[in-house]
Amino acid sequence: MKYMTTAEIREKYLRFFEEKGCKRMPSSSLIPDDPSLLLTSAGMVQFKPYFLHVKEFDPSYIGATTVQKCVRTNDIDIIGTTGRHLSFFEMLGNFSFGAYFKDEMCAWAYEFATEVLELPKDRLYFTVFENDDETIEIWKKLGVEEDHISRLGEDDNFWRAGPTGPCGPCSEIYFDQGPDFGCGSPDCAPGCDCDRFLEFWNCVFTQYDGQEDGTLAPLPTKNIDTGMGLERMAAIMQGVQSNYETDVMRDLIAVGERLSGKSYKADAADDLSLRIVADHSRSVSFMIADGILPSNEGRGYVLRRLLRRAVMHGHKLGIEGAFLSNYVDAVVRLMGDVYPEIVDNRELVERVILSEEERFGVTLRQGQAYLADALSKLDGTLLDGATAFTLHDTYGFPVEITEEICADAGISVDKEGFASCMEEQRERARAATKDDAEAAWSTYGGVHDELLKELGATGFVGYDRLTASAEVRAIIKDGVRVDALAAGEEGEVILGLTPFYAEMGGEVGDMGTIEAEGLKLEVLDTKAPAKGLVCHVVKAVEGSVHTGDTVRAIVDELRRKRITRNHTCTHLLHAALRRVLGDHVKQAGSYVGPDRLRFDFTHFEGMTAEQIAEVERVTNDAIMQALPMAIYETSLEAARESGVTALFGEKYGDTVRVVEAGEFSRELCGGCHVANTAEIGFVKIVSESSVGANLRRIEAVTSFDALAYANKVESELKETAAALKATMFDVAERTAANLQLIKEFEAERKQAKKAAAEGSVAEHIKDMVDVGYPLVIARIDGLDSGALRNAWDVLRSRMPEPGACVIGTVNNDKPVIMAAATDEAVAAGFDAGAVIKAIAGNIKGGGGGKPVMAQAGGKDAAGMDAALDAARALLIKA
Ligand code: ALA
Repeated sequence: MKYMTTAEIREKYLRFFEEKGCKRMPSSSLIPDDPSLLLTSAGMVQFKPYFLHVKEFDPSYIGATTVQKCVRTNDIDIIGTTGRHLSFFEMLGNFSFGAYFKDEMCAWAYEFATEVLELPKDRLYFTVFENDDETIEIWKKLGVEEDHISRLGEDDNFWRAGPTGPCGPCSEIYFDQGPDFGCGSPDCAPGCDCDRFLEFWNCVFTQYDGQEDGTLAPLPTKNIDTGMGLERMAAIMQGVQSNYETDVMRDLIAVGERLSGKSYKADAADDLSLRIVADHSRSVSFMIADGILPSNEGRGYVLRRLLRRAVMHGHKLGIEGAFLSNYVDAVVRLMGDVYPEIVDNRELVERVILSEEERFGVTLRQGQAYLADALSKLDGTLLDGATAFTLHDTYGFPVEITEEICADAGISVDKEGFASCMEEQRERARAATKDDAEAAWSTYGGVHDELLKELGATGFVGYDRLTASAEVRAIIKDGVRVDALAAGEEGEVILGLTPFYAEMGGEVGDMGTIEAEGLKLEVLDTKAPAKGLVCHVVKAVEGSVHTGDTVRAIVDELRRKRITRNHTCTHLLHAALRRVLGDHVKQAGSYVGPDRLRFDFTHFEGMTAEQIAEVERVTNDAIMQALPMAIYETSLEAARESGVTALFGEKYGDTVRVVEAGEFSRELCGGCHVANTAEIGFVKIVSESSVGANLRRIEAVTSFDALAYANKVESELKETAAALKATMFDVAERTAANLQLIKEFEAERKQAKKAAAEGSVAEHIKDMVDVGYPLVIARIDGLDSGALRNAWDVLRSRMPEPGACVIGTVNNDKPVIMAAATDEAVAAGFDAGAVIKAIAGNIKGGGGGKPVMAQAGGKDAAGMDAALDAARALLIKA
């Protein structure tokens, strides 16, 4: 067989289907535009709307062909243990949305496999869905021998992307690697778990739309969705036994070899780790480049798991310190020409990997020690859920990693116990009602999808106009279609066209009214629960509205104006941040409301006060230059060539809307903007904070809200100034001076207190008696512990000749007695410890010390005099 590089196979495939009439399209992001999926796991994901015909594909082509980057982690624990599974892989595909079907697809698949790849016909095997006689006939007509075709059931030959959505029976093509790869069983055939028959091409005849209740509704057209695993095909064409030995993957393994000094194929455990790190390095690089950041939820958690698993295996290989970002170089070199996003975001990818690695590195060893300790104390073979939870919560061990380490020791993890600990934590953290309500809006399917299919996307006229007359096309109440809404009722209204902007891309939905003779609906919000279908969330305040009514839709103009100022300002802020901080700054989210804006972006440390001031200055400069806004539609390609800032992880169609603020900012955006930046007036940044690892947030206000903010700051300052009896601009100086005064007063007060205490101590010199050495026994109330110790120093310095003392004090009702002496007094018989011991009982206390110094605190202040009398009786012998 002919040797082919991965790049050659990719190009030959795409060109083959392009020549058949398919449109070559770019891979879509790993973040799917589909809330039912966490990650893009197949080539068909970006084409779902075309299979469902909620959108129509470009009629000048018969379909599409792509190479799609995919991440699948459902079988993460076997990745690396077999040669076939990868968490990141490239899927070659071609797709028809009603144009071509089985006959063409099978013929082309056969032609590509046997004529372009020149795979030997006798090594190809074909499976079909159990009752699909038609496809068997097609393969036979193409020349496939009957004994190379078999039928398989639902598990193997019916393909679905998820529980619902486009799906259908499929036919798969296998390559026979030869009996040496097989299990030797007489039943060994395509579909067997062993390595002999390698499935490399899945051709799905996408005819159905899987429903929530499990039934299959026919799709409007018969479609094609195919997927060929590029790495598997490369393994076949390069005559190697596993995906990991293909040109691209072998290069990544070499990075691990270099870093660890180990050689591939020398030791089975090392090989496993080398494979895992090579595979995971691609998935984490591509995920970060598409805008996913490590977190404890959703796709961010998948990323964190992969990243941490790779780090652990790196350490297993003996690699010291943070190492994973060293793979990025190779990933960029090997794949950057096909996926430019990995080149563009290279610095971000490296920094995110490094910072997550450092974050994890801190706790990794402690966590390993904690787990080793737990395992050594374990009785039995089940690690309890609480320990797994602590490892997760405190040490950042994804539970799957804990499971993996435990499995090495033959121990399993109580996943149910772990899940219930997680659930308890979630319960504690749940502030969910709002989020749940939001989630309900974004369900794929249901009444909104049906309406979108029936009515098509709502025409939006609100970029240029804020009022329009329109027909009421549909009304929804409590999630169900109704014919009318009566006064006092709330629901959703869908119009033929609308000037109302539906919440999207961070910009809030418009508010306003929908009116007609005797009718007034208040529009509380505008949303697009199915993409393109604009739903006005309304409350009928006067009259009732019916489907078919002609109404006037009137957007709240002032509110919209405030929103547009904030939206344009968000673009200016984005551009200013990139100028001041660098190109690694990417928008990670935003909120654009009438009263304020919020902008989240990637950056690795808190901004300094100077940087914040500079960003504010640069943004205001762009405002004051009164830059005219240019907003136009163009092709994605032309926009990219003009250096547009496309949003991170965002999906764009072929035609995109470019929003330019002079030469200062150029972004793809569907939102509402001012006509000239001067309309923004003024922007004031009110806060800069962290919202996660490598994620910062700026909040800002513009125009009248910035004025209101400045006024509020000013009035606070004025009040403060008045209280300080200073002018506004002297506040800081005056406050500092006042603080200095307070400090000085405080020092003086302390000094005076000390002198007073010393004075009252010194008075007791008069009580001094000579018992062979000078002795003072006195009660001096109100001494704290410092003052009590100091009392001895005072006495000692003022006694004509220092000797010994016993001093009792009651301070805040607490009695304390101290006895102290010079060495001479001790030599003459004084023992502070013995004295304290002898008299402390009187104050219900205990304590002691050495002959030179002893102290006791007690519980009974009333016994203080008795205690001191006892001291006198003991020491002053009559
Ligand atoms: N969508 C099909 C698959 O992923 C082709 O196998």
